[in-house]
Amino acid sequence: MWKRVALVAIGFWILTLIVGGYFFVKGTGKRGDDGRLAVALKRDERNLVLSEMRQLLAGVQTILQAITNDDLKIVEYTASSLGMKAAVDVNPVLMAKLPLEFKSTGMGVHGRFDEMALKVHSGKMNKDEVLKEVSDIMLTCVGCHQAYRLDEVID
Ligand code: HEC
Repeated sequence: MWKRVALVAIGFWILTLIVGGYFFVKGTGKRGDDGRLAVALKRDERNLVLSEMRQLLAGVQTILQAITNDDLKIVEYTASSLGMKAAVDVNPVLMAKLPLEFKSTGMGVHGRFDEMALKVHSGKMNKDEVLKEVSDIMLTCVGCHQAYRLDEVID
């Protein structure tokens, strides 16, 4: 009897993992009318992602300006603020709605800013290399914007 209960419990547990895993990978994306994959989010979730985006744009501008002012301290500080710590307020429900590739691309961008901060700090990256890396990272911004859009769902 208890064996059967345990088996049923394990069965449900595995089912939960499979369903959860499916949504984690797929997210809530649907092909939109402009050819991009439309990720459906609630208003506050969309606002959170967009405010993170504006932070990225502002940070990139601050880094470029700091380069023209020869100020690598500001570059380091700003790059670090755009690192993984910029993504901490994203909750698991929102995470599950984003397609896996969206998440990994986004995390990749944060990781590259963390790396930039470390390299600038240890003198392993000079101004020209920062410029090249910013340009490279921005190819990822461009690519992701061509692939996805965020739609608001009313619930
Ligand atoms: C993982 C994908 C992804 C990456 C990487 C990404 N973005 Fe975005 N970004 C989006 C999506 C999706 C939108 C919403 C576009 C839409 O709905 O039309 C957006 C919107 C924006 C907006 C508009 C914000 C607003 O208030 O409407 C800005 C600015 C922006 N991104 C800047 C950037 C910058 C700068 C980078 C790189 C440093 C970047 N993004 C990297 C996916 C991404």
